[in-house]
Amino acid sequence: MPIINMLSLDLHNKRVMIREDFNVPLKEDGKITDDTRIRACIPTIKAALKQSAKIILLSHLGRPKEGYPDASLSLLPVARHLEQLLHYPVRFVENWLDGITINPGEIVLCENVRFNIGEETNNENLARKMAALCDIFIMDAFGTAHRAQASTEGIARFSPIAAAGPLLVNELNALHQALKNPARPMVAIVGGAKVSGKLKLLENLLDQTEFLIVGGGIANTFLAATGKPVGCSLYEPKLVDDARNILHQAEMKGIQIPIPVDVVCGKSFSSTTKAAIKNTDKVEPDDLILDIGPHSCETLEKIMKSAGTIVWNGPVGVFEFPAFSQGTRRLAQAIAESPAFSIAGGGDTLAAIAQFNIADHISYISTGGGAFLEYLEGRVLPAVAILETRGSNYSIQV
Ligand code: 3PG
Repeated sequence: MPIINMLSLDLHNKRVMIREDFNVPLKEDGKITDDTRIRACIPTIKAALKQSAKIILLSHLGRPKEGYPDASLSLLPVARHLEQLLHYPVRFVENWLDGITINPGEIVLCENVRFNIGEETNNENLARKMAALCDIFIMDAFGTAHRAQASTEGIARFSPIAAAGPLLVNELNALHQALKNPARPMVAIVGGAKVSGKLKLLENLLDQTEFLIVGGGIANTFLAATGKPVGCSLYEPKLVDDARNILHQAEMKGIQIPIPVDVVCGKSFSSTTKAAIKNTDKVEPDDLILDIGPHSCETLEKIMKSAGTIVWNGPVGVFEFPAFSQGTRRLAQAIAESPAFSIAGGGDTLAAIAQFNIADHISYISTGGGAFLEYLEGRVLPAVAILETRGSNYSIQV
């Protein structure tokens, strides 16, 4: 990878603009409910601080309408939170595009980049304006690397130097280890509501894995594809043929897709509905499949035990409801106990990891949601691609 690593650069006294992903959940009172993404950036900021850089932090928060600064999406609460985590002052700057005065060893957090017109369309003038504010641009926002926007891809084209921060480097290394050079057998778990959102992912994983485990509404569509009744469960009738095609391709390639043999059903989508374990042949017309059953769990546990690499995206049941949480809990536990290199990403998956308290037993937890999925789908992440271009030109210059 010809990407320049921030840690190899002399940052001393330089204006170092770091794009982070501080897109964190906020309550109405500005309280941050999950600061995982902010914590993940701390080593990057500390490394720049150690070199007495002039640190300018950029991020987006939410999806505001450009040109209409929305106070509820201000990064001010992030600045205050960051200060507490760093035990170091963080100056918040609202109007920063026309110039920032900053001293060595100082940290400035700029207001939400998405308040600027042209951010999302990757407007060249805006990107040039941002680039003019720094000597070195550091892309560290893996979670936003799938977006070609002014503060992610555009700025990297025009800044004097464009490099990757430690968080981005760690993410790319972990994904590389899991997908480009995996210890075998490789197991991918793709859970979630819909096949439609993850069809490309499932197809791409067929070329990489020995086991492809489907969960949630996706598994229901696969059950339907094998002719099993799914009652009133969430599934996509229009994608049954696609699921059948994936099963066929998997068989041709010798890849196992273990379809659940038993499930846990309810009569309504509620935490209080009575849970009933059923063989998949016995699902009734008014049943909703809300989890996998104990025999299906055993199969997954065995697979996790023998895995060399596990890539996990999505739960296998409605784990938020205690009566339907067993499948995801047992799967999570089996991943935690597996000797495999494990990587997990996506909002629901991170919530399950937190709920079952297994974070310390996952080899790498990605900060990316959409970016994690797009990488798994085999897509180019534009904000990483530009770093490669800039990196190869940089080494030619040196
Ligand atoms: C995310 O939360 O996945 C990233 O911050 C990207 O946010 P976006 O989907 O609004 O671009």
